[in-house]
Amino acid sequence: MNNRNWWKDRIAYQVYPRSFRDANGDGTGDLKGITEKLDYLKELGIGLLWLSPVYKSPMDDGGYDIADYRGIDPLFGSMEDMDELLREANKRDIRILMDLVINHCSDEHPWFQKALREPGCEEESYFYFRRTEDGQPPNNWRSMFGGSAWEKTPDGRYYLHLFSKKQPDLNWENPRLREQLYDMIRFWLDKGLGGFRIDAIVHIKKLPGLPSGPSNAPDGMVDCFPYARNIPGIGDFLTELREQTFDRYQCVTVAEAAGVPNEQLGEYIGENGYFSTMFDFSYSEPYSYGRGWHTCKNPGEWDFRRWRDTLYASQLETQKVGYGAVFTENHDYPRAIQKFVPEKDHSPEVQKALGILYFYLRGVPFIYQGQELGMTNARFPSIDPIDDISTRNHYRVALEDGLSPEEAIKLVARYSRDNARVPFPWDASENGGFSPAGVKTWLPVHPDYQTVNAAAEEHDPESVLTFYKQMVALRKSEPTFVDGAFAPILRRYDKLIAYTRKGTSPGEKTFAVLCSFSDKTRKVELPFDVKSIRLCSHGGVKLSGNTLTLKPYQSVLLELSAPEAK
Ligand code: GLC
Repeated sequence: MNNRNWWKDRIAYQVYPRSFRDANGDGTGDLKGITEKLDYLKELGIGLLWLSPVYKSPMDDGGYDIADYRGIDPLFGSMEDMDELLREANKRDIRILMDLVINHCSDEHPWFQKALREPGCEEESYFYFRRTEDGQPPNNWRSMFGGSAWEKTPDGRYYLHLFSKKQPDLNWENPRLREQLYDMIRFWLDKGLGGFRIDAIVHIKKLPGLPSGPSNAPDGMVDCFPYARNIPGIGDFLTELREQTFDRYQCVTVAEAAGVPNEQLGEYIGENGYFSTMFDFSYSEPYSYGRGWHTCKNPGEWDFRRWRDTLYASQLETQKVGYGAVFTENHDYPRAIQKFVPEKDHSPEVQKALGILYFYLRGVPFIYQGQELGMTNARFPSIDPIDDISTRNHYRVALEDGLSPEEAIKLVARYSRDNARVPFPWDASENGGFSPAGVKTWLPVHPDYQTVNAAAEEHDPESVLTFYKQMVALRKSEPTFVDGAFAPILRRYDKLIAYTRKGTSPGEKTFAVLCSFSDKTRKVELPFDVKSIRLCSHGGVKLSGNTLTLKPYQSVLLELSAPEAK
């Protein structure tokens, strides 16, 4: 592996710092807590550690609203704590990726505060401020968190925010703003970071003139995507960003890049791409939100083949040009099992099966904290403890559309991002060992913490955690899983995801993954000979001749004896 690709064979893990480990006993996770738990991550086999934002922030959107790019929020500790975490992680060969949020900042950032106070100042041009003659918003774009994407200031100007009104968009057209951002990025890379996960980066270019569009809902507004996502000209910004920062370091960059058309993938992650790798979201949500959560279909009701084909297409298109980053969970989604499997079929075994499904795809696998324990959604009894701004918005829209609070909270239980943001359960003690006993944690601990926790699972050979450790070890032991070619197989079977990974160098093995999404036992005719069964989610595998019997929601990883999968 040449130096530029040092990250490719590593396993990544995402920490949501507020909820990982509370070392100072204030109910919120912190940097010292992460440092304390590095050995846990090392033992799991992690080589890249993505931290969701820890910068100074009023926490309107969980830290994705940054008030000081060069400061650590006191909630998480100090810069000394950050330096210590970096040192300790590097010692263990775990490279830290910080979250780089540069499409927008916080309205409490000094730039924005000055722009509010002094119309016409330099900092005003770091944002999209507009005055209109009729006093109406400059256009009809809808913010991604609901409502108009424009907020009025007390002196009658408007500013643009694609996300919450406390997240004003930065004006990338201004070269002086860009230079400030590059300088800040170099400041962090000079500290010895492994790289960045780069937030919402596809939104930094807006369609010139900021035109209104035909409304797609009774609110008279229009989704902002056609006007503010992957807009022509974004490549100039991204090239400059790379040249001024990342290219000068041996760092890895993982872009949050939703909606990049296939024909542009090469520009993003090809040989000379803007980024090392990226998350593709095309298959991460099998349902579409439409106006709100109450319009979504449940698992089992949506079109399985379509979801599967989207996943296959993503893999095939990505391998033509570069290397992906694969995931089923992160801080923006409910737990994966909730998205993909009907509730009646949930079990720790199915958690393992979902693990196999994505772990052997082509790309760096990202584990989101708690996924390796098989955590499920949090089961909030009411909207009160919910912190997440987008959940509160969806809840409000559901009530506006006539749902009762009881009905709306069921939607929260299914779709809210806070379901996966509750404190990490380390053991069975009060507060799950996340915070000391007696402390009120910032979100309630998961109701299952007494059984689903790291300590209990560490010593249980059948646990999801033990299984993840096996998956990691196996993935790291075979070069095929890094560079091997991906090919879908057995497409004629419904409710089945199946693919091969074929070694590209002589002597490298070929593997097949099969994941059944049927709630019935079924037979599958394999088009190849099996050398050995390397991993099975549960219950053993029956193989007679080339007929494989799969149990409900069972996943297997097979090593093939023939070099060719037919
Ligand atoms: C990204 C983050 C999400 C955040 C949004 C705005 O999508 O993952 O958590 O709300 O950007 O910064």
